[in-house]
Amino acid sequence: MAPLAAVILAIASFATAAPSLSARQAITSLSATQISAFKPYSFYAAAGYCSPASTLAWNCGANCNGANPAFHPVASGGDGDSVQFWYVGVDSTLGTVIVAHQGTDPSQILAIVTDSDFFLGTLDPTLFPGLSSSIEVHSGFRDEQAKTATQILTAVQTALSQFGVKKVTIVGHSLGGAIALIDSVYLPLHITGVTFQTIVYGLPRVGNQAFADRASIGSTVTHINNKEDIVPILPGMFLGFHHPTGEVHIQDSGAWDACPGEDNSSDLCTTGDVPNIFEGDEGDHDGPYDGVEMSC
Ligand SMILES: *[C@@H]1O[C@H](CO)[C@@H](O)[C@H](O)[C@H]1NC(C)=O
Repeated sequence: MAPLAAVILAIASFATAAPSLSARQAITSLSATQISAFKPYSFYAAAGYCSPASTLAWNCGANCNGANPAFHPVASGGDGDSVQFWYVGVDSTLGTVIVAHQGTDPSQILAIVTDSDFFLGTLDPTLFPGLSSSIEVHSGFRDEQAKTATQILTAVQTALSQFGVKKVTIVGHSLGGAIALIDSVYLPLHITGVTFQTIVYGLPRVGNQAFADRASIGSTVTHINNKEDIVPILPGMFLGFHHPTGEVHIQDSGAWDACPGEDNSSDLCTTGDVPNIFEGDEGDHDGPYDGVEMSC
């Protein structure tokens, strides 16, 4: 986007910003049990980097059959180039459909979130019927989600009817987390009668204040940020981008802290701890997240 447009957008965004949904709660550390509960989902997010053939056979090794042996694959796709890998299946132990999206390496995601050719744009009303037109997302993330949206929807519907579970969990890391977050708004528009949760890692800012507020409804999103990772502070809030609620920040000590509100500026949370890209470390982007590295 041209600098002038960026400035206008930033001013417009401040003028129209909706009140934050933040509850007045303290920043609390997760217990060891709470941290461990994320581990199966971390492995599912890591397996998003594995080829469709290996996720469909569920034989990709440590992150697939090794970590989550009770998984029943339903569909996989993508080419890892023009379309990110994805897979859908059911974990019968956790009692949930899993939807996973592949991410990118730090240099590629940084190129996307700092590329001025991208802009905040509305979502396709065919895919997102009835969604308020005040909701805008990063055009690059929007276009990535649109490439696989209907295939994912069909696979989730198949999984729900074949296995009779009542829950859908959407996971992803980096770019895959951004696609997953848009899926978290998309899938409930088409599927009712089930509960949704979204667990993402190293999430960049995906949309404007209206999108962040929409994605925060029901507190179904958890986005886990590792230490000084700079991806979660991009694109900047001054460009009109905001995070939903549900941040969990992994401290240098290894403690996991739940951060209330959106973009909490406490130095225990990413927006406060990583004030600019020079004080961040892209080496923290891939993890480890409680021992799980985000790669196949
Ligand atoms: C950040 O967390 C603190 C708790 O320490 C809370 O009081 C504050 O409201 C939060 N900020 C936002 C922007 O939600």
